[in-house]
Amino acid sequence: MTGRTEAYSPGAHSDGLCPACEQAVVGRPSSLRRRVLFITSEMTDYVKVGGLGEVSAALPRALADAFDVRVLIPGYREVLQSHRELSVIADVPALAGLPACRLGRTRTSDGLFVYVLLSPELYERDGTPYGDRSGDWLDNHIRFGRLSAAAAQIAIGAIDPFWAADLVHANDWPSALTPAYLRWSGARTPSVLTIHNLAYQGLFAREALAQLGVPENAFRVDGVEFYDQLSFLKGGIFYADHVTTVSDTYAREITHPEHGCGLDGLLRQRAAEGRLCGIVNGIDSWDPATDPSLATGFEAGDWTGKQVNKDAIRDAFGLGRTKGPLFSIVSRLVQQKGIDFVLEAADDIADQGGQIVVVGAGEPDIEDAVRAQFAQRPKSLAAFIGYDESLARRLYAGSDFLLMPSRFEPCGLSQMFAQRAGALPIVHQTGGLADTVRDGRTGFQFRSLTVEGLMGAVTRAFRVFNTRSALSKMRLNAMRQDFSWSESAAAYGSLYMRGIGNR
Ligand code: ADP
Ligand code: GLC
Repeated sequence: MTGRTEAYSPGAHSDGLCPACEQAVVGRPSSLRRRVLFITSEMTDYVKVGGLGEVSAALPRALADAFDVRVLIPGYREVLQSHRELSVIADVPALAGLPACRLGRTRTSDGLFVYVLLSPELYERDGTPYGDRSGDWLDNHIRFGRLSAAAAQIAIGAIDPFWAADLVHANDWPSALTPAYLRWSGARTPSVLTIHNLAYQGLFAREALAQLGVPENAFRVDGVEFYDQLSFLKGGIFYADHVTTVSDTYAREITHPEHGCGLDGLLRQRAAEGRLCGIVNGIDSWDPATDPSLATGFEAGDWTGKQVNKDAIRDAFGLGRTKGPLFSIVSRLVQQKGIDFVLEAADDIADQGGQIVVVGAGEPDIEDAVRAQFAQRPKSLAAFIGYDESLARRLYAGSDFLLMPSRFEPCGLSQMFAQRAGALPIVHQTGGLADTVRDGRTGFQFRSLTVEGLMGAVTRAFRVFNTRSALSKMRLNAMRQDFSWSESAAAYGSLYMRGIGNR
């Protein structure tokens, strides 16, 4: 089916690259750039569950001019289907209970190098990278332990004889044990761990230790132990040379018990060492002026064009073409996102002449609650339960306001896409929402996480909606915000160089 069946033979590279002098299409020649292995469990090119997929597609590309960045991702079906020409370049030996697998190598059409960890039994499944409708995959510790251990082996040059990393960059719990494996093997390769969401920690029973080849003496408070369980994320936070998260405010919040998910003590320690910082995400170069999937393209100031998109979305959902504002939600439907506050506020918003459209998918009970409540008022409330990128963009373009009352939000991308399309975000003042929405200028923030808090901001939004000049001004401010990756990529670049320099 794919190059997976090819026998490993060093020197035979069906991707046409000479292993000794391979050049990425993007960026400067690899010999001039420091080498970074970027490990991720999702990437929009292939498979995406949340914002991590978008960051993993955008950040390595934004860094490619300055660094020889290579992404390592598990060989999910979607990856193999996208790269039928994948070269199998090496065998990856078994480690403790982690099965032997193979390493593939390919490039995206714009030249980004991607290493693919090949193990049909671990990664080629129906469902998301993390599970299916019945829950998480039961062998996730093996699947992502395998990923982390392979990353460490690749980083030290033990797998691809032509490439070793100057630094590894792990992301979230699925690759968080990479810095730990490096340390346990005695390697000194510097490491960065980015926490995209502290709430997902990768916790497993202590029986997993032996399967994962974790040294017994690492199962302690100063190590991977977390209340008698093995925590992937804690291991990463403990062993990484530097820990980042995806906004300044979230970097502070996680050092306090309220948002620290039990790891605030360790995070405080890392912050005190100067080893924890926030680097806010960017978004890709989406432009509502040129997106062909919109009813019509529009630029800042072209409010007629925006209105055409609003009418189109209302027609698509069977909503009345009223004079009131259209509120949107584009979100994973999980507890974090505070959808329950919107459900509590929905009737009030509809009574005041507002309409709400939800595009989202996630936990079945939240999906069901949205469906059931929205079915009661079909002219004002509508939902698409599922995942649809094009519909999401049409909704950003067509809505006046975005509702995002997240309980916590490490960064959040939806509020940035919304601003780019002139949909003013109404957000809880937390994490990246606090850092990327300017209250009263590009959106509305509320402090108290209650339905009253939310409705206070919604009332301000109604007021602005009814004052055309104020609405126009805020939309212009929002659409002119710079959410590009350049500054953040430069911040990662400096961090990498510091890590490499301190080795
Ligand atoms: P998280 O990573 O916590 O899910 P973010 O706001 O960082 O939240 O990223 C969510 C991304 O996924 C945004 O780009 C948003 O547009 C997109 N998204 C969320 N739900 C859907 C959906 N149902 N269909 C299409 N895109 C979605
Ligand atoms: C996580 C967070 C989200 C962040 C994204 C990318 O999914 O929930 O806030 O934007 O990761 O970093």
